[in-house]
Amino acid sequence: MTFQNELINWYLINKRDLPWRHTKDSYTIWLSEIILQQTRVEQGLPYFNTFLENFPSVSDFASATEAQVLNLWQGLGYYSRGRNMHATAQLVVNNYNGTFPTLHDDLIKLKGIGEYTAAAISSFSSGEARAVVDGNVFRVLARYFGINTAINTPEGKKQFFKLANELLFREDSALYNQAIMEFGAIQCKPKSPKCSICPLNIDCFAYRNNVVNQLPVKLAK
Ligand code: ADE
Ligand code: SF4
Repeated sequence: MTFQNELINWYLINKRDLPWRHTKDSYTIWLSEIILQQTRVEQGLPYFNTFLENFPSVSDFASATEAQVLNLWQGLGYYSRGRNMHATAQLVVNNYNGTFPTLHDDLIKLKGIGEYTAAAISSFSSGEARAVVDGNVFRVLARYFGINTAINTPEGKKQFFKLANELLFREDSALYNQAIMEFGAIQCKPKSPKCSICPLNIDCFAYRNNVVNQLPVKLAK
């Protein structure tokens, strides 16, 4: 079976039931992705629920005061990110008629949305063929394909980004992107990955060559 199909099969059996995986609403997905940049899933869940209860739509978010937003943000750190969210909500109301964008090229222009977040929102909301490349994806690709280019160098970023987009399962980019991130988060974990029960271990470079703990390579800067 292909790498992509193994990942998707694994995902369908092992995925966690997370609320933002039940929607294609780009505003809701944006909320989840920004919060999850700040914190782990378990800690992010209550924040996600509270934000959505207080601001069910981007217009509700935009018409809040900055103090209200930052009050809900408390505990997530980096208040600039909370402020960026508020500014973005207001820009969406003013320039996009309150319809949160779903396309990568619109999303990337918004404050607080970088390459990863634009790929995630566009893929999850509209099925756009964009590979997400986060820490989980770097780790899975480095180990499985045996790539020892440092992930935090321009050369490494380019190489991993290229490979990730070549591997992307274009028929369902959202499913594939969720699958590879989830696989990195709970199976091919940074410490103590579950290699002995991994459906990909037969073809995994790192496992076969006993270098799982040496990959991915990250340069001290
Ligand atoms: N971390 C970042 N995005 C995520 C998602 N959609 N599901 C689970 N963890 C995530
Ligand atoms: Fe990751 Fe281990 Fe599976 Fe390789 S065998 S993909 S290192 S969990």
